[in-house]
Amino acid sequence: MVLVLQLLPLLLSRAQGNPEASLEGRPGDRVNLSCVEVSQPTRWVWAPSFPACKGLSKGRRRILWTSSNGNPTVSAAQPFVGRLRALGLGIRRLELLLSAGDSGTFTCKGHGKDESRTVLRVLGDPADCKAPEPTRESGYLQILIPLLVLGLLLALGAGGLAYCLRSSVPLT
Ligand SMILES: *[C@@H]1O[C@H](CO)[C@@H](O)[C@H](O)[C@H]1NC(C)=O
Repeated sequence: MVLVLQLLPLLLSRAQGNPEASLEGRPGDRVNLSCVEVSQPTRWVWAPSFPACKGLSKGRRRILWTSSNGNPTVSAAQPFVGRLRALGLGIRRLELLLSAGDSGTFTCKGHGKDESRTVLRVLGDPADCKAPEPTRESGYLQILIPLLVLGLLLALGAGGLAYCLRSSVPLT
């Protein structure tokens, strides 16, 4: 019974004639995305499962494509800059460093209608998405507190020095 339940999604996706790969990982893991059965991949699109997580609207968006000189280009408008790169020549295989909110469907598209999909699930999504970003104030405090401590130490040192000097100089 358990086996049947595990096989069911696989059988269903086969029946729809729409083979989909699936990947799972945690934030900080690296995963490889592969483009299969697309003769000449030209671009990758991503449909986030939890768009609000990254402050995005719903729907597919281009995340990587080959520019006119043939080099892979990662969209600066999407949240993958610095975390997504093509492995080897072309854009058939990509490596992604996972972060919270990356869950979604990654589709590799060719010149025609051929495409290859990979469903990614980042463990902890969407709960991790709601983790508050470190605020500006806490950033300032992290600098301010050591500065205050340093200032205090300097003041104490100067005070001690003045005291020593005063006690060693005979009063006239
Ligand atoms: C991804 O591909 C690279 C290069 O082929 C390989 O070194 C790495 O082990 C792969 N990573 C995973 C998670 O499969």
